[in-house]
Amino acid sequence: VVESGTSSLYSAIRDATDGPVLKAICHRIAGDEFRHYRLFYDTIDAYQAIEPLAWLRRLQVVVGRFIEVDDDELAFAFHCANSPDRPYNRRDSTLAFQRTAFSRYRQPHVARGVRMMVKATGLDPQGRAARLAIDAMWWIISRRGRGPVAG
Ligand SMILES: [Fe+2]
Repeated sequence: VVESGTSSLYSAIRDATDGPVLKAICHRIAGDEFRHYRLFYDTIDAYQAIEPLAWLRRLQVVVGRFIEVDDDELAFAFHCANSPDRPYNRRDSTLAFQRTAFSRYRQPHVARGVRMMVKATGLDPQGRAARLAIDAMWWIISRRGRGPVAG
């Protein structure tokens, strides 16, 4: 789940920048993150053969991991990099980070990340559930990418 997010974020930054060095770095990191995902996915497959988990339980794990990732680690890092002289405000930093990062995403970046997560649940990443999840996630990401930064 983490790798779905990181590989899609670095792909989004890669595709949004005109800087050749940043583009090359993000391309390599996105590839690394995708390979991490592949390793976890293959490991899940191996364990599924030994101790199968139903798709609903796998879905719970994926959703749980997705919620865990939504803490303020990235917002705090954004704050430290951009306004270390001001007191940290979780909400403002979260909004500022999301506006900056999410505005780089295009629908295919979101679709790929969501399909990776759906595949980890055992559901069809090209199926109807995946398409609904992509539409919902794209609505959230694109909205937050345009969102206001509280002052
Ligand atoms: Fe990773």
